[in-house]
Amino acid sequence: MDFLTLFGVYVVLVLTCIALVCKYSGHQQTPLGRLFDSVTWVVAPWIPQCLQSICYRAMHILFHQRNNFFLYMHLLLEIAVYAEFSYEIFGFCLDMGTSLISLCVPYILLALKSYVFYLCCSRDPGTLTKENHTAQLNVYQYDEKLFHKGIRCPTCDLVKPARSKHCRVCNRCVQRFDHHCVWVNNCIGAQNTRYFLMYLLSVCATAGDISVLIADMLVQTVVRTGLLHAHYLDEQGQQQPVGPLFIIQHLFLTFPRIIFMLGFLVFVFFLLAGYTMFHMYLALVNQTSNEWFKGKGHSCQHCHPHSGHRCKPSYNPFRGFHHRGILKNLGEIFWPLCPVVKKDN
Ligand SMILES: *[C@@H]1O[C@H](CO)[C@@H](O)[C@H](O)[C@H]1NC(C)=O
Ligand SMILES: [Zn+2]
Ligand SMILES: [Zn+2]
Repeated sequence: MDFLTLFGVYVVLVLTCIALVCKYSGHQQTPLGRLFDSVTWVVAPWIPQCLQSICYRAMHILFHQRNNFFLYMHLLLEIAVYAEFSYEIFGFCLDMGTSLISLCVPYILLALKSYVFYLCCSRDPGTLTKENHTAQLNVYQYDEKLFHKGIRCPTCDLVKPARSKHCRVCNRCVQRFDHHCVWVNNCIGAQNTRYFLMYLLSVCATAGDISVLIADMLVQTVVRTGLLHAHYLDEQGQQQPVGPLFIIQHLFLTFPRIIFMLGFLVFVFFLLAGYTMFHMYLALVNQTSNEWFKGKGHSCQHCHPHSGHRCKPSYNPFRGFHHRGILKNLGEIFWPLCPVVKKDN
């Protein structure tokens, strides 16, 4: 079937893109990243060497150097979704009796989303400089498991405060480093985690809201055209009642762009909802994804049987060393700790 082939190609493309992002965004332990590794391992012998090095170079530029590629991608996707929404869906929904107010919600969400996205991209994540890193040293305690006292960053030549990390993409040390996000072309750190969270939430809300509007419109269409009780003639000339598959095919042929977009939005919604929940959880237990990934598979190099060093047995990677209660943890995201506040305590 033509439709199924097209859909298969589409799913494979999307999964490849996600696998690429997972693989190159630093968290190599993800299942999709591993799947990507095995696929490249199998496919590699059939691909000429020069093509391989071009691909490798492209991936390096895309994921390991600061660039605006994903910002443009993001903008393009957003324009496509909102153009389709304004051009086709808006009118359809109005005809189907959706109120004007519910149809304006996606535009309000767009404004909100663009604003936090802008803040997320443009705000400094908490760069540590020679001038201000000493003040940051006493903001967090060293847990002596993931972060050890007195370690210097060889590139920036400064003593690393606890929870900071050197971002290899941006070539700077960042306080309370979470991860480097290619979508916003910025690190996520102490000063912009709040915008990142709000951005994730607003994208989920937008995708969810538009999906619900479209689904409602399609259901209304099916009900109003009486498609549920319709019949068709099969090859023997017998009347047959239409089934759900028939209705889906009919909708796909009547509104190909809308169904395509609905699929995309539902997919984005579930993908991002999972990711947002992960980040909300991290915020609630006061952990960064850097610590989460490090802490999970951590075997401390200092913990040799013959060295005096022993990691604290009380360390719990799922709760976070800096856990101070859920409200305080959330407060810390929205009002990042600064050295001045610390002195007052
Ligand atoms: C340190 O100073 C730089 C440059 O003024 C600033 O951008 C950065 O946000 C400061 N870092 C912190 C953690 O306040
Ligand atoms: Zn550094
Ligand atoms: Zn970075």
